[in-house]
Amino acid sequence: MSQIQIQQLMRPHLVTPETYATAVSPDEMAAKAGVAPEMIIRVNQNENPFGADPDIAASLTDLPLHLYPDPNQVKIRESLSEYTGHPVEQLLAGAGADEMIDLLMRLFVAPGDRVLDCKPTFGMYHFCARVSDAEVVSVPRDDAFEVDVEAVAREDDERTKIVFLASPNNPTGNILSEDQTRELLKLGMVIVVDETYFEFSGQTVSHLIPEYENLVVLRSFSKWAGIAGLRVGYMIASPEIVNRLVDIKNPYNVNIAAEAALLATMQHRDKLLGKVGVLLEQRKRMEKAFDSMDGVSYVPSYGNFLLTRFDHHLATDLYEALITKGVFVRPFSDPRLTHDLRISVGTPDETTRVLEVLSELA
Ligand SMILES: Cc1ncc(COP(=O)(O)O)c(C=O)c1O
Repeated sequence: MSQIQIQQLMRPHLVTPETYATAVSPDEMAAKAGVAPEMIIRVNQNENPFGADPDIAASLTDLPLHLYPDPNQVKIRESLSEYTGHPVEQLLAGAGADEMIDLLMRLFVAPGDRVLDCKPTFGMYHFCARVSDAEVVSVPRDDAFEVDVEAVAREDDERTKIVFLASPNNPTGNILSEDQTRELLKLGMVIVVDETYFEFSGQTVSHLIPEYENLVVLRSFSKWAGIAGLRVGYMIASPEIVNRLVDIKNPYNVNIAAEAALLATMQHRDKLLGKVGVLLEQRKRMEKAFDSMDGVSYVPSYGNFLLTRFDHHLATDLYEALITKGVFVRPFSDPRLTHDLRISVGTPDETTRVLEVLSELA
């Protein structure tokens, strides 16, 4: 069968390639920078720069790898319940917050429905909406990158099902207030507040869940717990939503290693939250250094990253120049961010190097 024919069998909206722009591997980075892989400073994906904690890594030995994991996630949900204070009926785990976004699309979005996000924001909302054959409407944030609640309300119609809002927002780092959340919840659409960076911000709207059946909160273990590679995230939502998602999810969506790491993270959480504290100090260090650099500013951030503006440089030029020094940051194609780079907070040593290189180049 020729390629033309096989494409005719595909869902028409998926035939044109639109691959998600993921970052390159450490080896590719090293080759691009022309330096040894261990010299690379990877501050482009908001990962945990301390690496996996030894106690979490130790939990991955001697696992019953020949068995399927628990489809009902009993231990996981009990553990998350103890951590979050929400009852198990409001909790569901998955392969990262990413899987939760995909599951929400499957539950709520039919082809032709509309999905809203507020740009600039995290790309997976658009990505998953496209796969669902939804129309994606991106409502621009205001000049301070705040959500324009009135503009979102103007887009509300019977075809609009979900609004995705990251808080802290990636890449801007600002949060959605409780008042804004309440205004949005009144509209009646599903309001997804993506709190992937919750452990850094300490800010949540999850306490509104008993009041609003249309509120969904997403969380992740990728950033604060340092296990992005294992893919662990979860959702807090009304039992009605959680139960319907249990019906449609892949039964074994949290694998044995991910489950063990999640439970070990909960057990050692004080130590991991201590590392979050170190990262917040490093963010402050970066802010202070940027305050004293000419033509450099940043959006006040509640996350483990800073969207930093370089008035004297095009972001793409500076991005390339940083690579030659082994420092990888994140540029954006958004026309509002042509002078901006998102810089994740690294270890104290990495921060020293990033600041050294930036004071030379910026
Ligand atoms: C706002 C936001 N949501 C979700 C994710 C993905 O999280 P996970 O690794 O749990 O899938 C990210 C990752 O960068 C993010 O920035």
